[in-house]
Amino acid sequence: MRSLLGDYVLQHLQNEQTGTLHYRLFRCLRHAIVKGVVQPSTRLPASRDLAQAIHVSRNTVLSAYDQLQAEGYVEAKTGHGTWVSSRIPDDFLSSLPSHIDNKREKMDEEEKYEISKRGQCLIERASASPHQWGAFVPGVPDVMAFPHHIFQRIQTKQSKLPQIEQLIYSNTGGCFRLRTALAQYLKVSRSVSCDADQIIITEGIHQGIDLITRVLSDVGDLAWVEEPGYWGVKNNLSMNGLDVEPISIDSEGLYIPNSPQRLPSLIFVTPSHQYPLGPHLSIQRRKHLIKFARENKCWVVEDDYDSEFRFSGKPYPSLQGLERNSPVIYMGTFSKTIYPALRIGYVVAPKSLAPILRQASTELYRGGHTLLQNTLAEFIEEGHYEAHIRRMRLLYGKRRSYLIDLIFKYLGERFLHPYDNASGLHLVLKLPQSVDDTALSEYAIQRGVKVRPLSQYYLNRHSACEKGLLLGFACVDEKNMFDAFTLLIECLKKFNIPLK
Ligand SMILES: Cc1ncc(COP(=O)(O)O)c(C=O)c1O
Repeated sequence: MRSLLGDYVLQHLQNEQTGTLHYRLFRCLRHAIVKGVVQPSTRLPASRDLAQAIHVSRNTVLSAYDQLQAEGYVEAKTGHGTWVSSRIPDDFLSSLPSHIDNKREKMDEEEKYEISKRGQCLIERASASPHQWGAFVPGVPDVMAFPHHIFQRIQTKQSKLPQIEQLIYSNTGGCFRLRTALAQYLKVSRSVSCDADQIIITEGIHQGIDLITRVLSDVGDLAWVEEPGYWGVKNNLSMNGLDVEPISIDSEGLYIPNSPQRLPSLIFVTPSHQYPLGPHLSIQRRKHLIKFARENKCWVVEDDYDSEFRFSGKPYPSLQGLERNSPVIYMGTFSKTIYPALRIGYVVAPKSLAPILRQASTELYRGGHTLLQNTLAEFIEEGHYEAHIRRMRLLYGKRRSYLIDLIFKYLGERFLHPYDNASGLHLVLKLPQSVDDTALSEYAIQRGVKVRPLSQYYLNRHSACEKGLLLGFACVDEKNMFDAFTLLIECLKKFNIPLK
């Protein structure tokens, strides 16, 4: 930043209107020091460099530096240049043009900004948890169990050979190598029918929802979401001006109403592991959903966020792969299989829709992170991704069994939600209807047990909403799980919940 001080001076010197040039420069630099633009104990540019940058003589800069030194704002270190003092002189306040700065700071404090209605709605409904790690944060994998060293080795190798395509804007919907590797992976592991051209790389499912919603619906259109369901979908849809209608789920997943009053443009589902309750969409319901969407010309959006983790029985194939040319758009993510901060997800669209989504994605978000995507592609090609998923399936399977044992032993079987289907990174602890699960979760969080209340996943919050707690088991080892569970039992007792 040292060399940029000239830019600051050029922008602010005209505010100092009285006195000689060197005195005005002194005041300008002093202001920069006092306001913290230039931090204590940092080096000022060499007088010759600053003089050149601001088009004044070197003597002018030297005189300004001398005065700063005389008043204690800087120190000259022989042979090492001029440094801002580590402590600013005590009387600096009296030297500030205080009427300007104090007024401005006060304004910043008091100003209430008006935000849009939809902005307000988003902030009121904001649901992202401030707690993203530890027992029992749902939906977070064990980010430290990832083979970071392998990923880094590949990334370092690739970054030594920078390609122009990796460094410019991308308009390809994500790097081809990653799309190719993903197409292969999705065909085999998720029975998704696709090739690389149908894939658009996103910065996670949230961005995929935004893209699909903006391109395939208009403000005022209707979207159906599962009730209870993922808050991220609902917030994104409302923010894009859609009406959102919650549709009930039961043990077979989403239940399409017999004669809906209004037809939706978009239907969002989590068919392999309904979020948050857990059932998978039965084959009859899958067929019915696709038939309904075909007949009514709406899109089904399949959110396949965590189906890599199924701990017993055979994996459920994707809805997208069930019928040829179905109106299903598939979305997936690396947030659960690798780590959320990677921010890489994907949308798989029917062949004729993919180029439109790709172009829209370029217009809305521009493309990027190409080096990261190429690294991920090689990581998948070399078999590391598959191996990591296999290892994590075992690890999370063990942690899940441990948690279920604790539930059965200390609480009783009735506390495991009946829709649980032995998948994913969380389970739902079912509570009696009379319990205020929001108050319980706040109480537990204060004691360090990070649980989320089930009732908050309902769009229509009323007394009939099921009560429970989401317990994530992936990012916590058995020892910590036991300690947290013991605390949780105390919390349940505090709320007079009858235990075993
Ligand atoms: C059902 C569901 N879909 C999507 C996401 C978010 O995915 P991403 O991190 O790719 O935006 C989550 C995160 O917890 C989720 O639970």
